[in-house]
Amino acid sequence: MARRALEQVDMEKIVALCKRRGIIFPSSEIYGGLGSTWDYGPLGVELKRAIKDLWWRDSVLKRDDMVGLDCAILMHPKVWEASGHLESFVDPLAECKACHARWRPSDLADPTRCPDCGGPLTEPRMFNLMFKTFMGPVEDTAHVVYLRPETAQGIFVNFLNVLNATRKRLPFGIAQIGKAFRNEITPGNFIFRTREFEQMEIEYFVKPGEDEAWHRRWVEERFNWYLRYGIRRENLRLREHGKEELAHYAKATVDIEYRFPWGWAELEGIANRTDFDLQRHSQFSGERLTYFDEETNQHIVPYVIEPSGGVDRATLAFLIDAYDEEPDKEQVRVVLRLHPALAPIKVAVLPLSRNERLVPLARQVYLSLKALGRWTVAYDDAQSIGRRYRRFDEIGTPYCITIDFQSLEDQQVTIRDRDSMNQVRVPIAEVEKHLEERLRLP
Ligand code: GAP
Repeated sequence: MARRALEQVDMEKIVALCKRRGIIFPSSEIYGGLGSTWDYGPLGVELKRAIKDLWWRDSVLKRDDMVGLDCAILMHPKVWEASGHLESFVDPLAECKACHARWRPSDLADPTRCPDCGGPLTEPRMFNLMFKTFMGPVEDTAHVVYLRPETAQGIFVNFLNVLNATRKRLPFGIAQIGKAFRNEITPGNFIFRTREFEQMEIEYFVKPGEDEAWHRRWVEERFNWYLRYGIRRENLRLREHGKEELAHYAKATVDIEYRFPWGWAELEGIANRTDFDLQRHSQFSGERLTYFDEETNQHIVPYVIEPSGGVDRATLAFLIDAYDEEPDKEQVRVVLRLHPALAPIKVAVLPLSRNERLVPLARQVYLSLKALGRWTVAYDDAQSIGRRYRRFDEIGTPYCITIDFQSLEDQQVTIRDRDSMNQVRVPIAEVEKHLEERLRLP
């Protein structure tokens, strides 16, 4: 089936669908919202959880060289001195002298004029993107702490703890999913660039000299991960950073970019961080963050390959890539063609009508599927069956089960496939097996 080209996907439609169906809401909306913060609704939370669970399953559970970690958001302020974030995690900011809007000059066609009002811009000054707050009741410089701008540093400062606790040998990795905060100058494009977001990060420790080969392997692994869960190949590409754009800690970085409706943009970065972080934390903390290599009888400082993805950005890319509209009689059928593993609701149980003879059997099928605790299952008996199918297509539900009058006679139900709209009759006793075969994870 021919799919719409991505540049035709209208972001406003995606944002409206997210709001209407409880995927993503503007944060604090009853107070007028808070710039660039968003809340995940009942369906959004399932989608986001599915993304994180699949990432964890593929990055940790299925591998024997990975372990997990979950660190505090607030860390000792010295961490950010050692990591270089206090000094280098800065963006140039220019302010409009007329309307006081703030801009990152590199985002502007004319870096001397305000795109809002045309007023003159100030000379750019450097602005640190870390959110600052105070620990305890006293607000002075001695009590300053930062909200972490990346989850990675929690992994580096726990390197020895994990090594001692798990006795892992190189190469091995530590994975973490968690919130990060950046006081972005120009947030925007819905959940693409926000000030509060979630990251899925791996720090993969390798022997120096083996880093470049591992970097290539991780780029391939992560690229294929997005394909595995349904992103179309033509909407993904790799882009290597030029020397001038490399982060202060990186020797090389390859971005996985997605073709968003406004153009190609970073979905995930895979960096070769060398031994920069472990060396710096050794230096600043006085702890020797090394690994004893039994082959050479030497203490070495491992190199690090870091695949770092954004949960929210992945959510947005999966949503955009899945969004489809197809002509259907006089109407347009909106379908989210999400991979079944990502669908917020896997199965909907729909009695043909609210007829009192149909409802008990439909409820029974619904409750027995729910009781399995394996899938998100919805029940809906409002409106015509056609309209209900449309409602479930729009949120990407792969299978709808319909109970009709024939079901009362033969104990069979109709299972409708979202993409093909094909319908098959299945005995109630075999529904679980039917779904299990189709919803099995890749
Ligand atoms: N530890 C490395 C690191 O943080 P990054 O390229 O700055 O690298 C990694 O961020 C990923 O985090 C990005 O590819 C993106 O998916 C996500 N990300 C970064 N800043 C973001 C923001 N302001 N809003 C949403 N996601 C963001």
